[in-house]
Amino acid sequence: MLRPTWYALSKTLDDTGMATENPSVRRAAIEDCDSIAAVHIESIRSLAARYYDQKIVQDWARPRTGGVYRRAMETGEMFFVAVNRELGKADQIVGFSSYRVDDGKHRTAVYVSGDCARKGVGTALLLAAESAARSQGAKCIDVAASLCALDFYRTNGFQDLRVGEHVLSTGRRMPCVFMRKEL
Ligand SMILES: CC(C)(COP(=O)(O)OP(=O)(O)OC[C@H]1O[C@@H](n2cnc3c(N)ncnc32)[C@H](O)[C@@H]1OP(=O)(O)O)[C@@H](O)C(=O)NCCC(=O)NCCS
Repeated sequence: MLRPTWYALSKTLDDTGMATENPSVRRAAIEDCDSIAAVHIESIRSLAARYYDQKIVQDWARPRTGGVYRRAMETGEMFFVAVNRELGKADQIVGFSSYRVDDGKHRTAVYVSGDCARKGVGTALLLAAESAARSQGAKCIDVAASLCALDFYRTNGFQDLRVGEHVLSTGRRMPCVFMRKEL
């Protein structure tokens, strides 16, 4: 059986005194796609919305199901999820990162739920995507950073390349900063 790789976050002790990581990061599976869709929308609405006008937020966070992410996985994009585990409750996906090769460039993006912001979850998800890129031979990784995420990527070693626009699937353009990190 293929065992998932888990990436370390801060350790806590569970009821039996065992060290656990919560949330923990693992490679996403097809079954995670609906939860990825939900956390994607929630992250934009709770964390990124105040950096953009309403029309951009509406298009960027438009309702969607897991099908978008399933198709992306099936065509080679890798996703990593941060999973929150609480005794007696269903596991909850609280963030995700993606890694893909597009136009010969290794690319990533990271989204975290509003409740879990500034707890290191985004960094752990980014490390998972960077590790996947390295294993594919990447020497650098690129991101079209949302205005909300500039300081996050800068703190994590990315450098600004240029200010630009990302074209959403609806065709609407949103301001972003193209950034790169040498791996
Ligand atoms: C950007 C994002 C992924 C960061 O996730 P996160 O889990 O909050 O990030 P971390 O806790 O790992 O942050 C690591 C460091 O980055 C910096 N950082 C992160 N968010 C920041 C913010 N909003 N403002 C300033 N610095 C920030 C800080 O130095 C932080 O360390 P600190 O909390 O000890 O000060 C999250 O804000 C998000 O999902 N935003 C909305 C979606 C989005 O725009 N994603 C980017 C798409 S390209």
